[in-house]
Amino acid sequence: MGIVEELKKEFTDRFGGEGDIRVYFAPGRVNLIGEHTDYNGGHVFPCALSMGNYAVARKRDDDMVRWYNMTYPGDGVIERSIRGLEPNDHGIWYDYQLGVIWALEKNGHKVRGGYDMVMKADLPAGSGLSPSASIEELAAVICRDLYDMDISMVDCALMGQYSENEYNGMNCGIMDQFASAMGKKDHAIFLDTASLKYDYVPLNLKAEKIVITNSKVKHSLAGSAYNDRRRESETALEDIKKIKDIKTLGDLTEEEFEEVKDAIKDPVCLKRARHAVYENIRTIKAVEALGKDDLKSFGELMNKSHVSLRDDYEVSCKELDILAEEAWKLEGVIGSRMTGGGFGGCTVSIVKEDKVDAFKESISRIYKERTGIDCEFYIADAADGAGRIG
Ligand code: GLA
Repeated sequence: MGIVEELKKEFTDRFGGEGDIRVYFAPGRVNLIGEHTDYNGGHVFPCALSMGNYAVARKRDDDMVRWYNMTYPGDGVIERSIRGLEPNDHGIWYDYQLGVIWALEKNGHKVRGGYDMVMKADLPAGSGLSPSASIEELAAVICRDLYDMDISMVDCALMGQYSENEYNGMNCGIMDQFASAMGKKDHAIFLDTASLKYDYVPLNLKAEKIVITNSKVKHSLAGSAYNDRRRESETALEDIKKIKDIKTLGDLTEEEFEEVKDAIKDPVCLKRARHAVYENIRTIKAVEALGKDDLKSFGELMNKSHVSLRDDYEVSCKELDILAEEAWKLEGVIGSRMTGGGFGGCTVSIVKEDKVDAFKESISRIYKERTGIDCEFYIADAADGAGRIG
């Protein structure tokens, strides 16, 4: 049985099969390059994945929600009123959904009622492929569609980010929600996070595949370290602003940064800012290279991105370093780097199609030898963004 059939059956068993039952999907994302730039006014280059969260839902005529997540059956059916919601930092799947309803209301988008819903993910939890953004965008498109809300998909992304920042206490940037809401099949999104201007860039990979490797680790400091990095970048920006009129670190070229960097007092903040500035420029250069079919340069920039995330931004970890550094040694690997927030999760690699099997064999063997862990691989399939699918 496919996932949609499974969901429909579960929904009928739990909530009855009558009425207008609709089907939705919201993808996860993989970021090809441009990491930890999205809250620094820089560029990112993610694509939506064909993996994500699916839901079937039916409007209710009161303010209650009844939700069941087949991925977390132990949570049972969650029953709540959508009125009087209070932010919390529990980070449970339903908090990401409730947070979006709260965010929509807070921003003047009236959610006129609740809904019954059964959902399920085919996106690995803890993978750093943005399961939370996928759940947020799922909630946004369900509310938008069931209640005919006049809200653009870009605003759905912004509501997801707002809810994560203000309801769930995680100071993320806009990349994940934007990719989930705005993805386009066979394209990556070149997004300027300062202006929210974006271009869809075709991923014309002829003889290569985008391979995601799941380290299967998620170190517990991820949330707090993320907020720390954000603060450190902001401190660096404040120092630079004393001598140069800029709005974000993304405003600086490499040369300009080298000229003003001594204004940053704390050496740790200096490293964070160097990453943010250079990573932004790498992202712009990588997209230019892709436009010229120069995958070699694209791959080299990916590798440099990893080094910078490892040494300057310090958001990598032993497991991600092993995956990326071992990949660099293999024939047919164009580039490889950690992707997402870091401290575990996945790497993304561009690999010659005829070398993908050898890549998987070598990486899984070496990774197991060095960590005792079995990693997992997924071939990324750039997909459309969140919406109703049935
Ligand atoms: C997480 C956040 C994003 C982004 C990345 C790092 O995925 O949710 O906003 O900052 O980390 O690039």
